[in-house]
Amino acid sequence: MTEFYKNVEKYVFYSFRKAGRIHEVLHLIRTLYWLEQLRPDADEALRIAAVSHDIERAFRRKDVKEIVKKPGGLTSTIYFKKHEIRGAEILGDYLEKQGARKKLINKVKMLVSRHERGGNDDQNLLKDADSIGFFEIYANSELISEMIKHIGKKEVKRKIDFMYDRITSDEAKQITKKWHDKMIVDLKSSK
Ligand SMILES: [Fe+2]
Repeated sequence: MTEFYKNVEKYVFYSFRKAGRIHEVLHLIRTLYWLEQLRPDADEALRIAAVSHDIERAFRRKDVKEIVKKPGGLTSTIYFKKHEIRGAEILGDYLEKQGARKKLINKVKMLVSRHERGGNDDQNLLKDADSIGFFEIYANSELISEMIKHIGKKEVKRKIDFMYDRITSDEAKQITKKWHDKMIVDLKSSK
């Protein structure tokens, strides 16, 4: 792993632990794993973005908390934009303080700033890895019932549909399908 990656990883662990959300780091680690499966020669910026793309969640502000509480909030463009842009800013500031070169900082920011909605090939790659990392964890844990309890069945279905439909590559779709289908069955049979 390269020079700045390790520090970013430490920063991610530290920030989520401090926010009382350390369990969320597993998703980030798995996103990196899937990104490397989809593109084994991924560069440093892609690896950094994968392991840190949800950093905003460790620094969540009141306005964002309010948005996600509303019906459809979790899959709304306004939420995605705030989540992406704030995450990119946090990472940009951190990397700048670490003395990273401008080119690396700009690429990480570019990737994180579209990781939910995608855009160019690299942004789509991160988005796909993020979706696989989401389905892998939720399909294989009790987290789905937690999520249902928290936001209700309708919102969970919305989130599942969004996370699946947004996938760009056939490879990522293929990896995800069995977990997606399992989650739909689990959702239907849940109370
Ligand atoms: Fe994510």
